[in-house]
Order: sequence, then structure tokens, then C-alpha cells
Amino acid sequence: MADAVALVGFGYWGPNLARNLQHLAGPRWRYLVDTSAERRGRAAAHYPQVTVTDDLDRVLADDEVGAVVLATPAATHAALGTALLDAGKHVLVEKPLALSTADALALTRRAEERGRVLMVGHTFEYVPAVRKMKEIIDKGDIGDVLYLHSQRLNLGRIQSDINAFWSIGPHDVSIANFIVGRPPEWAAARGARYLHESVEDVAFVTVGYPGGVLAHMHVSWLDPSKTRRTTVVGSRQMIVYDDLDADARLKVFDKGADRLDADSYHAWQYRLRDGAMYVPRLEMTEPLAEEVRHFLECARTGDRPRTDGWNGVAVVAVLEAVDASLRQGGVEVPVEAPA
Ligand SMILES: NC(=O)c1ccc[n+]([C@@H]2O[C@H](COP(=O)([O-])OP(=O)(O)OC[C@H]3O[C@@H](n4cnc5c(N)ncnc54)[C@H](O)[C@@H]3O)[C@@H](O)[C@H]2O)c1
Repeated sequence: MADAVALVGFGYWGPNLARNLQHLAGPRWRYLVDTSAERRGRAAAHYPQVTVTDDLDRVLADDEVGAVVLATPAATHAALGTALLDAGKHVLVEKPLALSTADALALTRRAEERGRVLMVGHTFEYVPAVRKMKEIIDKGDIGDVLYLHSQRLNLGRIQSDINAFWSIGPHDVSIANFIVGRPPEWAAARGARYLHESVEDVAFVTVGYPGGVLAHMHVSWLDPSKTRRTTVVGSRQMIVYDDLDADARLKVFDKGADRLDADSYHAWQYRLRDGAMYVPRLEMTEPLAEEVRHFLECARTGDRPRTDGWNGVAVVAVLEAVDASLRQGGVEVPVEAPA
């Protein structure tokens, strides 16, 4: 039975996945692959029961390995993901799924052809506050979603191979796509390179959805304050999700502006509603544990993951449009994501 599991990549993020694999897969976690001797040494010290190797072929050839978690740099996802799917493995690829829509699409189609599970690690879609926000919106409590905006700011982790939007923006795009529930139509972005000549440290991105819904995303790894916040403005209520506010990650505000009849000069009048705020109760689960558990479950049952390949394609298509807009000084670029 192919129920053994492997982890490929034990850099910055891999250890978080490793901790969860140990907890969730236990003795079924068989391999840890990393090309760095230093990282392999650390992994072997932490997980002596796991076979630590630099040889991915061992995983590819082991028919008892059914599921593989890929936490290597984004530039390797397309090639390694393809090799794993071709070897018949179910694959969880860390975000972003690939560095181009064409590659993300090829991975997704490959998984479908081979009948394998392909999941993308859009961790924030497993965050209880984000799921609760979506539940509140879908119930219609806040009215129509008018627009949303997010800030994902920090000092670090500075990268040199991908810009700040490819590094941390996938989370905001995946949250926005999830909240709006429709594919975006266009993206426009301005950004700047201060530390490195080839990648942007900061980006101000606007994504347009059908019906005039706008999502604005500000990302930076060169900022004094760590900020992880998403605000959704609805026609009746407004929601603020602040991931750093442990006591009130989600706040729902009964705030809005109701249009009254026009006055005698035919100017519209508005009544501002500055009502109560409540803090919904949230599950206390670790999002990454939820993500890994979901992947292992889908690998076992063959079910389609919540964040499947198509979800990954939709996010990469926005990232690609953002890149094109950055190159063209901020013009609106259509998001070309296949349905
Ligand atoms: N979901 C999240 O919140 C989250 C957070 C951080 C990073 N990530 C994602 O995780 C992935 C890894 O990011 P990171 O920050 O850990 O990168 P990293 O560079 O710190 O680590 C990558 C590791 O992969 C190893 N590696 C590189 N090529 C390899 C290959 N061909 N075979 C085996 N090992 C190889 C490297 O030696 C390194 O140890 C990226 O896709 C990143 O976007 C996700």
C-alpha cells in the first residue's frame, strides 16, 4: 500500500511541514530530501527515524511512497512537481504553484491525466479567521463585497530570486480570490527596487474582479512594522482580519453609509452607521496542520483538495499579470487564467 510520505526541501519553511508530518503521518513519514548537506544534517538530528537523503530518485522509485510535500524554491516546483506526478505520487506544492501560468497549468493537467492529487500550499485558506470571514460573507451578513485591501509588511525575509509580491503576495491573492469567489479580470501594480537591482522590495497591487470589486494589496519586506491585515468592506458591514491580534483576529463592524432620498437640490444624502462591533469565535487550529491533514486525507481518498491545482493556476495568473504591469509602469493587465 502506497501510504508512505516524503518531504522535499528543509530550508526555512520545510521544518514547519516536517513538524506536522511527524505529528500527522508518524511512522509513515519515510523520506526527507534536501540538496544541502547542512540542511540534511539538521534534519537528521531532529528526525532520526526518517531517511534523510539528497537523492530524489529514491523517493520516485519507492512505490510505497504515495504522497510528497514539496517545499523547495519556487523555481524548482514545475520540474520537481512533474517528476513526482510522473512517478505516480500525490503532491502538495508549496505556494506559488509555479513561476508561470503555463507551468502551473501543465502541472494541473498532468495531475488530472495521471489521476493524482495536486494541492497548492495556500496556507491562509486553512486559517480559521479567513474561513470564518468567508462563511460570514457567504451568509450575506455584510451585504455585497464592495472592495478589500490587505497589508503584508515586515522587515525581512528579503529574497533575491523572486520579488516581494511573488514571495508573500500569493497569500493575499489567494485570500482575495477565496473571499470574492470569482476569478479576477485584471491587475495593475507599481513597485520599486531599493535593495536589489532585479526584484521589487515593495509592491502596491490592485486586482479587479467582476462587478467592480477591487482588491488592493500592499506587500513589502522593507517596512518597520510587521503587519498582516485584510479589510473587507461590504454594502452593509465591514470586516477586519488582523492575524497579529491574538485576542480579536476577526472583527465585524456594523458600519456603513446608507443612501437616503435626494435633498431638494437633488444631491444624495447619506446616513452613516457607526454601530456595534463583534468578535466571532474561532477554532483554535494551526492552519498548516489543517493544510497537511487535508492533503494526507485527499491523498488517501483521491478527493479534490480545497486548494487544488486550478486554485494555484488562478493565483499564478494574477502574479504573472502583476509582473507584466510592473514592467509597464502600472497599466491594467488582463489576468489570463483558464477557467
Ligand atoms: N505557506 C507558507 O506560508 C510559506 C512560507 C514560507 C515559504 N513558503 C514556500 O515554501 C517553499 C520553500 O521556501 P523556503 O523559504 O523554505 O526556501 P529555502 O530556500 O529556505 O529552502 C528551500 C530548501 O530546498 C532545498 N532544495 C533546493 N532545491 C532542491 C532540490 N532540487 N531538491 C531537494 N531540495 C532542494 C534547499 O537546499 C533548501 O534547504 C517556497 O515555495 C516558498 O514560497 C511557504
